[in-house]
Amino acid sequence: MQNTNQTRSQQLMELEEKYGAHNYHPLPVVLNKGKGIYVWDVEGKKYFDFLSSYSAVNQGHCHPRIVKALKDQADQLCLTSRAFYSEPFCEYEKFMHDFFGYDRVLPMNTGAEGVETALKLARRWGAVKKGIPNDKIKIICCEGNFHGRTVTVITMSNDPSSFENYGPLTPGFIRIPYNDVKALEEALNQYGDEVCGFIAEPIQGEAGVFVPDDGYLKQCYDLCKKHNVLFIADEVQTGIARTGKMLCHQHDGIRADIVILGKALGGGVLPVSACLADDDIMLNIKPGEHGSTFGGFPLAARVAMEALKVVVDEHLTENAEKMGKIFREEVMKINSPFIVQVRGRGLLNAIVTKPIGDKTAWDICLKMKENGLLAKPTHDDIIRFAPPLCINEAEIKEAIAIIKKTFEEMSA
Ligand SMILES: Cc1ncc(COP(=O)(O)O)c(C=O)c1O
Repeated sequence: MQNTNQTRSQQLMELEEKYGAHNYHPLPVVLNKGKGIYVWDVEGKKYFDFLSSYSAVNQGHCHPRIVKALKDQADQLCLTSRAFYSEPFCEYEKFMHDFFGYDRVLPMNTGAEGVETALKLARRWGAVKKGIPNDKIKIICCEGNFHGRTVTVITMSNDPSSFENYGPLTPGFIRIPYNDVKALEEALNQYGDEVCGFIAEPIQGEAGVFVPDDGYLKQCYDLCKKHNVLFIADEVQTGIARTGKMLCHQHDGIRADIVILGKALGGGVLPVSACLADDDIMLNIKPGEHGSTFGGFPLAARVAMEALKVVVDEHLTENAEKMGKIFREEVMKINSPFIVQVRGRGLLNAIVTKPIGDKTAWDICLKMKENGLLAKPTHDDIIRFAPPLCINEAEIKEAIAIIKKTFEEMSA
């Protein structure tokens, strides 16, 4: 029996509570509409979306050009599998080559699959090109990483909530502290001959928007080159203009050997991921040795091309850089005992908070929701702020005013 005193939101949340797996802890808001930088709940209340689906909606919700590309293609041909060629996918391969300057693209769907693919590419290259015996091959990863949720990918994590009681995990990883060049140097000095790849996020998003020191990635890259090790950039969250460059590791003036893309590659409408690499790496995987039924399907190919064109046509890279500066400058001026640090790059930012009494980052997010802005804590005390990159100056200032007001109310 439905309780008629409940709001529509309450009814829907109850359905999820009762029938869904409890693998998320959402903010209590039920959305049914999105446009640009805004989303609406089922009661019709409008919010700034400052999560952007973990940076998958960089181009803004329901972007008309991206939705049109999806609809036009949906009327024409949705799915072929890679058993046959498809016109959109062939065009997409050339487009990605021209756009990012890598010889080849390997299409997948989710970010975690993109990461899995990069690990397989690196291992295969290590075996075939570097001559590492298969049972010895190692990949170096970083503490605090988040690369996704598959069994192999969680093996890299040092967050117990990601890996505990999911064992046995996958062998062949060495974990070192992030933002620590010396640690990489030592690991490579010790194991370099057996290491095929070093994988890192240019900024650790899920760890709480942890920005490494300037030059860290370049120094890591140079060490990788010295030891004949592939530098793998997980750009799933940081890529596609989010941090003020098309790819975040470009801030360090380097070119990763393997780039993993996801999230915003799908323009906020479809799961689309990809690995980019040159022939020497990519061509070691032969027909039948890796794949995905949906990887590179016609809808994804059309959507991804349009999503990237929108980023360029609307100058979202430059806008992320500009709006991000305003955001950090203004938020740093907020005087609140809850705020420990403001950090980030482009429009991937975070406020590190500390609890006061029994009030935590979760309560701050609830209050921001009441005030019309959605953001979510990561690791209990860090609130990430990542609006769609199409936000303009007036809008970001309005959003900052909500954040300021929220912190004032929390301290009152
Ligand atoms: C850096 C990074 N890599 C990989 C992933 C996994 O992507 P997905 O959730 O699409 O599998 C994420 C997701 O947050 C991520 O932030």
